[in-house]
Amino acid sequence: MRPPPALPAPRTSVAPRSPEGSSGPRGLRLRLLRPADQPALVALRRALDASARHRCWGSRPVDELPVPELPTRRTPAGPLHLGAFDPAGHLVGHAALQHPPLGTPHGDPRTGPPGSQVPEVALVVHPEWRSSGVGKALWRQLRRLAAPRWPTVAALVEADNRPALALLRQAHLAVVDHGDPGTFDLLVATGPTPPPWPADAPHPRVLIEGGTWAGCPEGWAFAGRPGTVLRCPGPPPGQTCPALLDHPCPLVDGADVLVLSSTLGPSARLLAAAHRRIQASLPLLSTSPVPGAPHPR
Ligand SMILES: CC(C)(COP(=O)(O)OP(=O)(O)OC[C@H]1O[C@@H](n2cnc3c(N)ncnc32)[C@H](O)[C@@H]1OP(=O)(O)O)[C@@H](O)C(=O)NCCC(=O)NCCS
Repeated sequence: MRPPPALPAPRTSVAPRSPEGSSGPRGLRLRLLRPADQPALVALRRALDASARHRCWGSRPVDELPVPELPTRRTPAGPLHLGAFDPAGHLVGHAALQHPPLGTPHGDPRTGPPGSQVPEVALVVHPEWRSSGVGKALWRQLRRLAAPRWPTVAALVEADNRPALALLRQAHLAVVDHGDPGTFDLLVATGPTPPPWPADAPHPRVLIEGGTWAGCPEGWAFAGRPGTVLRCPGPPPGQTCPALLDHPCPLVDGADVLVLSSTLGPSARLLAAAHRRIQASLPLLSTSPVPGAPHPR
């Protein structure tokens, strides 16, 4: 395989306009990948630095990675492969949604509930084009295309992958609390509201509100217990928690127990009051001094 041709300088921003094919102000084009794009996809993988390869596929050598089949026509439940092309037509970014995820042998579903029934996101941008808005444009478009079929998608991200976390954080998301501080298992909403609980999440379903990327004491207290613990780190930057607006929240609606983390500080009171108004029958635990809320044990 020949190395990919030299790429022009990165652009500063891209702005998708139409759902399946779109262009940015400086000529970057987003469109669904077709079977003929497979060599370009392989070339993009080869152009990646070792760290990016490791983040996407672990330690598997690039030659051993399965090349995804690119569909000739898009079907609602089928895989989704979106490419970002520079003005010369070179593929400089790839966003995919696939179940089973890229990198797993065909027929080997993502293991471990919850979320094993939702497709996983894979995002990659050519090293020379990073930090210039390509990932953001791909992610925004991927969510838009996925939303009618998949209200929730999964993402597995290493804790030190700040660009990926910043990107995913722009959507409503929940952290699956599985006790591994090195990797975040995320359920990310494709639409404008928080993600619903995956259908396969075992009960009791505990929703913890608050915490940081690194977790929270309440999450550690629930580690190893039966059921499922999801943590809501709050709305995306610049948005307001639906509960504070007295709007329904799919995460709260699907929970059996709600825990307000001590990391919330003064907003714990506001949240407790909001939940009492709209989900009066839902058990509410808090380690902060919230009137009427017992402490978790
Ligand atoms: C993760 C990745 C796809 C992001 O794409 P990108 O085009 O570089 O990202 P963008 O320029 O669109 O920026 C997205 C967000 O990340 C932030 N960001 C970009 N580079 C960053 C950096 N080096 N450090 C911290 N944050 C960074 C941006 O500020 C932006 O957030 P904002 O809108 O809140 O400002 C890209 O870095 C990549 O290919 N990484 C290697 C593969 C990988 O880790 N994939 C993710 C596995 S799911």
